[in-house]
Parts: sequence; structure tokens; C-alpha cells
Amino acid sequence: MTPSPENTTHPADDPEAARKAPDAQAPDAAAEPVGAARRRGPLRPGERVQLTDERGRMSTITLVEDGQFHTHRGVLHHEQLIGRPEGIVVENSAGFRYQALRPLLKDFVLSMPRGAAVVYPKDAGQIITMADIFPGARVIEAGVGSGALSISLLRAVGESGHLRSFERREEFAEIARGNVETMFGGPHPAWELTLGDLAEALGEHEEPGTVDRAVLDMLAPWECLDAVATALTPGGVLICYVATVTQLSRTAEAMRADGRFTEPESFETMVRGWHVEGLAVRPDHRMVAHTGFLISARRLADGEQRLAPKRRASKTDYTAEDLEAWTPQALGERAVSDRKLRRAARDARSLARHAAGQAEED
Ligand SMILES: C[S@@+](CC[C@H](N)C(=O)[O-])C[C@H]1O[C@@H](n2cnc3c(N)ncnc32)[C@H](O)[C@@H]1O
Repeated sequence: MTPSPENTTHPADDPEAARKAPDAQAPDAAAEPVGAARRRGPLRPGERVQLTDERGRMSTITLVEDGQFHTHRGVLHHEQLIGRPEGIVVENSAGFRYQALRPLLKDFVLSMPRGAAVVYPKDAGQIITMADIFPGARVIEAGVGSGALSISLLRAVGESGHLRSFERREEFAEIARGNVETMFGGPHPAWELTLGDLAEALGEHEEPGTVDRAVLDMLAPWECLDAVATALTPGGVLICYVATVTQLSRTAEAMRADGRFTEPESFETMVRGWHVEGLAVRPDHRMVAHTGFLISARRLADGEQRLAPKRRASKTDYTAEDLEAWTPQALGERAVSDRKLRRAARDARSLARHAAGQAEED
């Protein structure tokens, strides 16, 4: 459908239209295939809605015609929300009140079905900025895990970009596909999900020197550096997210040893919330203290050598025995049971079906 002023104007952009007919503005999913229209206007069946009670406790529900949200404190009918604007406050059968809002990306990734640990929103934000993920960029990512980072990367590259995400485990790929399709209301036009080990599969799918940005979130990024350096364009950015300092150090040494990268930069981000009420203004007592470290470098032009301070080999360099130490067990990675993975994949598929149903209705 060709967008026209009638079908692209939204109440949020035109307060006069919203005042006259707030619920009559049908979103045009075809004109905005990656879900911009789905994030606006009145709440619709198939959508996820986040309910927050007076104590700040949150529940996420998927709206269905005639649906009900039951707690030990009464019943809320989905009809009280469908067709109404975001941000309304509704009361259940026992008089308990809830604030209703569409989940933001940061809320969605923390509540979606997952198999592996996800990249937290604070780190996804850093990755997008520090790796300079731009609209239209050609990006590769591995592994996909639950697809949390893929969602942020897709938001950043947009419809004109290209994200190819590699995952070596089929169950994780299935969970990620479900989550991405739920988030965007269907397949994202810029996304390709490739099953396989990045070190082997990257060269089969991307020509040497054609990838703008590479993002690795995996146990052993050093095993993939050769393939990534080959795929990256000169000036391209590699960023790796790792959970432990031992992985960080091995990744840094492997980047230096490869010789095709600039001197790597390493950092972490801590976000501390604040309690701000009247004169009681202080940091929150609790915070997410550690998630992971980021390490980033750029691809040199072929045949060039990086400029960096000369180092002497020291006895702190790795021995061959040390290099055997990076096993999932040694790094404290917990195995996920097949049963849990199957359940997460089922939930992700079912949510994606609801979201697709809603997009079709739109
Ligand atoms: C921590 S999870 C990724 C989480 C993901 N970034 C997210 O935000 O949801 C790591 C994933 O990398 C995958 N993986 C590890 N090594 C890989 C490789 N060499 N190629 C492809 N996938 C790999 C694992 O199977 C696992 O699913």
C-alpha cells in the first residue's frame, strides 16, 4: 500500500485528530513493516501489555478478546484495555489498580522466553554506540542465544540494513526467531538467521571485506577472529561481549596476535539507579553489579600493522596449557536442560503467532 497522509498520520503526531477520533486511527502495518505502527494507537488483541500495580510489581499479559487476568486479588478483563490508549489506569474486580503500557524494548527482552543469558539493555546500548551500528549497515552477529541483542541490532540497522545472525544450536535459534518475530510483529526484512558455527559458516555467507560491523557474544570469541577479520571491511568494527576477565584477556591477546586489528579497547558499564523522593535522594541499595565486559577493535587495511606501544614477552603470557582452561564448566557456565529449552521455544513460537495474528489484523 502506498502511504498517504491519511494512513500515515497518527494521533501522537496530530493532537487534533486524536481529540476527534482517538480510536479510529487504524495503524498501517504494511506501510511500516517493522512495527512502528504497532507501537502506536489504541491497544489491540495480540499485543503484549505491561501492567504495573501500586507497589510497582509488573505483570506482562497478551491481550485476547474475552481474556481475563487473574490474581489472588481479583480479575481484570482484557476488554477493559482493548481499544483504549496506552497509559490508562484500570481497576480490577477487587478495586486493585494497574497502569497499562506497551513494554519497551528493554522491558520486552527481560520478560521474553529465553534459553541462554541475554545481553542486558545497558550493554546493548553500549554495543550499538561503541560499535557504531548505523542505519543501513551490514552487520554479523554470533551467537544469537535468545535474540535479545539481535532485536537491538535490528532496530539500529533498520530496514535498509542487513543483520546476519549465526547460531550453532537449533533450539536457541528457534527461541530467538520467536522473540524477534514477537517484537516486530513478524519476520524483520533486514534479518537472516543462519544455523552453524561462525568460524566455519561466516566465509560461506559473506564475501571477504564486505561486513561493516561484527558483534560476538559467545564463550570463545578468539576461535572466530580469523573468520571475522577476513569478513570485515577496512575500518570495520569488531566488538565482543564476554562474561569473565579471563575471557577478556584471552580475546585481547588473540586480537593482537591476529595482526589485522587496531589495539583493542576494553571497558564495562555499571548503571546505578537512584531513589529520588523529596529530600531522600540517594543511590538505590541494589544494582546489577556485573554483566560482562566489552572489548572492541577496528579492522586495519590489508598489509598494515597496528600502531601500539611495544611490549616485551612476559611470564604472564599464556602457555599452551593455560589455553585449555576455557571450558564452559571452568567459566561457570550453567548447562540449560533440554526440557527448559523446549519450553522456551514453545513459548517463543506461541507469542510470535499471537503477534503475527495481530499484525495481519492491522
Ligand atoms: C550468551 S548466548 C548469546 C545471547 C544473545 N546475545 C542474546 O542477547 O540473547 C551465546 C550463544 O552463542 C552460541 N555460540 C557459541 N559459540 C558459537 C559459535 N562459534 N558460532 C555460533 N554460535 C555460537 C551459543 O550456542 C549460545 O546460544
